[in-house]
Amino acid sequence: MDTKIIVALDYPDASSALSLVQQLDPEICKLKVGKQLFTAAGPRFVEDLVSRGYPVFLDLKFHDIPTTVGLACAAAANLGVWMMNVHALGGGAMLRAARAALGEAGDRPKLIAVTLLTSMSETDMREIGLQDSPQDAVLKLARLTQINGLDGVVCSAQEAPILKQNLGAAFQLITPGIRPASAEIGDQHRVMTPVAALAAGSDYLVIGRPITHAANPLSALLAIHQEISQ
Ligand code: C5P
Repeated sequence: MDTKIIVALDYPDASSALSLVQQLDPEICKLKVGKQLFTAAGPRFVEDLVSRGYPVFLDLKFHDIPTTVGLACAAAANLGVWMMNVHALGGGAMLRAARAALGEAGDRPKLIAVTLLTSMSETDMREIGLQDSPQDAVLKLARLTQINGLDGVVCSAQEAPILKQNLGAAFQLITPGIRPASAEIGDQHRVMTPVAALAAGSDYLVIGRPITHAANPLSALLAIHQEISQ
């Protein structure tokens, strides 16, 4: 089953990540490994998660010259990951190199892009010479991602309707900032419930602390799974 929930493994080392993973179920979630865990635990840990049956989203947001990014994407594909990502700000040639590195096989990993980091304010954008509004920049970068053959973008669920409207239903939207109605918001600002995010057009939900910090992570995962399956 193509489960919609991607649990963010935001842990400092393999053993703390594994103690959570052992409580989860690959039938109802995927896993996201980001820069912190990957840097600490390395590629063998990613392969371990894959061998346990989990689809893994390798969230390393590659951004470099096209050749280097292409080679990094090929190396990630060799780990057996389900999804990986790059920065759309790396430009068209870099996006094409990343996409070309994954080939055309039906079971190739999905490749998505980060448009504009949600941590960037308009002031931050001006500082680096970007004159667009954040919404225009996101749409422009998502279009660039799509015309270069990538599968989708990471975005907030608030941006999902406008992106689906402009880029079509097949372009995949992966959304963090998800909070079940009963969960704490923490440091996220604009949050949506899992059901509302899917209704807004999200294809996959990245969920961290509402599951990883729950007293019983499996029950938290199951509760969200049931809520969105209904
Ligand atoms: O714990 P929480 O559910 O907030 O975790 C969300 C995950 O999604 C974290 O790994 C965070 O780095 C990531 N993320 C995010 N907002 C973005 C991009 C990624 O929260 N714009």
